[in-house]
Amino acid sequence: MTLEIRRTAFADVPASRRLGAEAFGVSPQPAPDPDPDNWPSPNIRPWVATDDGEVVAGLGVRSFTSWFHGAPLATAGFAGVTVAAERRGSGLLRPLVEAALAEARGLGDVVSTLYPSSAGIYRGLGYEVVGAFEEVRVPMSALAAVRPPAPDVRARRATAADVPAVRRVYETWASAQNGPLSRREEPFAMEPDDIVGPDADYTGVTLAVRGAGDTEELLGFASWSRGQGYDRTNTVEVDDLVALTPDAARALWRVLGSFSPVAGWVQVCTSGGWSGLDVSRLVLPDHAATAAPRPYMLRLLDVPGALAAARVAPVTARVPFAVADPGAPDLEGAWTLETAGGAVHVVPDDAATPGDRPTFTSGGLAQSWAGAQSTANVRLAGGLSGPTTHDAVWDALWGGRQVHVRDYF
Ligand SMILES: CC(C)(COP(=O)(O)OP(=O)(O)OC[C@H]1O[C@@H](n2cnc3c(N)ncnc32)[C@H](O)[C@@H]1OP(=O)(O)O)[C@@H](O)C(=O)NCCC(=O)NCCS
Repeated sequence: MTLEIRRTAFADVPASRRLGAEAFGVSPQPAPDPDPDNWPSPNIRPWVATDDGEVVAGLGVRSFTSWFHGAPLATAGFAGVTVAAERRGSGLLRPLVEAALAEARGLGDVVSTLYPSSAGIYRGLGYEVVGAFEEVRVPMSALAAVRPPAPDVRARRATAADVPAVRRVYETWASAQNGPLSRREEPFAMEPDDIVGPDADYTGVTLAVRGAGDTEELLGFASWSRGQGYDRTNTVEVDDLVALTPDAARALWRVLGSFSPVAGWVQVCTSGGWSGLDVSRLVLPDHAATAAPRPYMLRLLDVPGALAAARVAPVTARVPFAVADPGAPDLEGAWTLETAGGAVHVVPDDAATPGDRPTFTSGGLAQSWAGAQSTANVRLAGGLSGPTTHDAVWDALWGGRQVHVRDYF
């Protein structure tokens, strides 16, 4: 048995695909053969584990930026993690993930994220759940009572000329949250041909606008697919519903609700659950909905890098902290966070002694830094120990944004 963990070679592609198709139940129809000149796809780093040359595990790392605390951070998004059925439970996962994490860190990625099939698979590797992508199904009956927007806000269909403004609306929303992809990189970039026109992914993109002509202002958008049929069993599927004002949200929901005679449901890709609720849902007078959440996990790769990139409240404070986690030894260390005027500096502290400062596990730090849980709750979950003196300041620094993510990978 000769185990090798390395980046996937082109010759490994058929075996890697078979492994992935088997694990994720992908259609047995073979996908078209990849073109060696255009493989791997941009912004994806595939990895395999081989045993005597046979592919026994694989994963792909997507490279993108995602918003945390007002900064677009380089992110390694893990996907397609698979171990061959007969080799599961034999310890292949950790060295494979650790090799890909080490490469990501070397390339400058600051955080890593993933959608787990089971959260327990990744906890021991330092990841923790910080939010969820959700497909929420809203019955048309719940949209019937959405109040009309103010008279100066109306809906109209987007054209290619609107795409730059649509991107700006997305960025205005995304940069105010923790977690959303910036959509500056392929395949997540909002390319005009993907959004509007004959080959678009959607039936239409509806805009909520105020004013007209040169003074028209874009306040929100919804990209939707009509689906087939015209009875109440049908669903209008919405990939994005982003509104910068309540009137924009009302205008968009009402357009979707206008399909009520020919569809029974609107299914919206959203995030945040009920505690970090997508504010565009606040205009719905009826909470009737069913949700299928897909948890999103986060792990830091560079503790000083992630914390120092943030724009935080302009408080002046010095907070000692440490990370101790045998499952994520690369993150372990002790530092002092110094903040003033909204900027953060993180200075290594060689004089630290065990127990002298708040000490996070990797997962506890991920939850706290992302604003997903208060220090009090992270303590309850076992992700934080040590003195509580600085908990209120820590919460004030990191607790001000909700976790959202709108791209599944
Ligand atoms: C998930 C998978 C990659 C794990 O590989 P594996 O070799 O079986 O993993 P290991 O036995 O080394 O276990 C690694 C960790 O995951 C945990 N784990 C494994 N399977 C799990 C499951 N189904 N649910 C929760 N935790 C699980 C183990 O307890 C272990 O935790 P620890 O590190 O805290 O001790 C493999 O089972 C697989 O390919 N499954 C089908 C595809 C899949 O679900 N992929 C994940 C997509 S996100």
